[in-house]
Amino acid sequence: MGWLDTTPVLITGAGSGLGRAIAERFDAEGARVVAFDRDPVKLADLREWSLGRIVTVQGDVTSPEDNAKAVATAVEEFGGLEVFVGNAGIWDFFRGLLDTSPEDLARGFDEVFAVNVKGYLLGARAAAEALRESHGSMIFTLSNAAFFPAGGGPLYTASKHAGVGLVRQLAYELSPEVRVNAVAPGGMATDLRGPGSLGLDGTSITDAMPIKELVRTRSALRNDVEPADYTGSYVLLASRANSSTVTGAVFDISAFGTPQRPPAQ
Ligand SMILES: NC(=O)c1ccc[n+]([C@@H]2O[C@H](COP(=O)([O-])OP(=O)(O)OC[C@H]3O[C@@H](n4cnc5c(N)ncnc54)[C@H](O)[C@@H]3O)[C@@H](O)[C@H]2O)c1
Repeated sequence: MGWLDTTPVLITGAGSGLGRAIAERFDAEGARVVAFDRDPVKLADLREWSLGRIVTVQGDVTSPEDNAKAVATAVEEFGGLEVFVGNAGIWDFFRGLLDTSPEDLARGFDEVFAVNVKGYLLGARAAAEALRESHGSMIFTLSNAAFFPAGGGPLYTASKHAGVGLVRQLAYELSPEVRVNAVAPGGMATDLRGPGSLGLDGTSITDAMPIKELVRTRSALRNDVEPADYTGSYVLLASRANSSTVTGAVFDISAFGTPQRPPAQ
């Protein structure tokens, strides 16, 4: 018996990094997982890893139709939905205000906010009715950048701060049936990419910088962090039995582990 036995869950951005770690952990806790991602190769790997237990949906979180398809899949396959995890995100690779042209700022804003904010909003909209029926919950992945500067540039930091507002507003609107919370992890070595409109989709955070080392030396706990190390808070928030009084909360589990842009020379 796990903490999430037979709980139907939907996780966006479950193809790699933190989303995949959450999918694996929820699977180990007995949940019935639908993994939603835009990358079919990553989804095929997850299906194979889970020996078919995890059901996958390929689509884009910025599309209302794709979000609806992902929720419908959970309802069809598992009879309902109890937990929606909004997690798919992109980063801005520390692109600062003054080293980004106004045109790039406009393009980058549209793309970063489309995934990090609109994607969460549309996912919440698609899942809300099913979660009302099940008295379920939503959990969003935020970041150290939801609280502090220097975890990205203004595009990413503003998008993750916007996520805090989304959690509070949705927790208020969807109460008392649906709990809405967020987890704010610190840096980790993943396949995290940036907006294609700024040419930042070709490299991952892991290839661009020694992210593990940066987190180890800058986090208060000085540990070697893997995405799986952040998944416990998701299990807690997904488990109604263990967090029935929690809504509108953002768990900051970053230990101040921001990548931190080097200061200007
Ligand atoms: N890596 C870090 O240092 C770090 C730190 C704090 C917070 N986060 C947050 O963690 C979350 C997960 O990121 P990660 O680091 O695991 O990166 P990742 O790239 O490994 O995982 C993100 C997944 O989302 C998918 N995705 C991206 N855009 C999508 C879209 N439009 N539609 C559908 N799927 C899409 C990608 O294909 C990928 O599989 C993000 O919200 C990110 O902001 C990451």
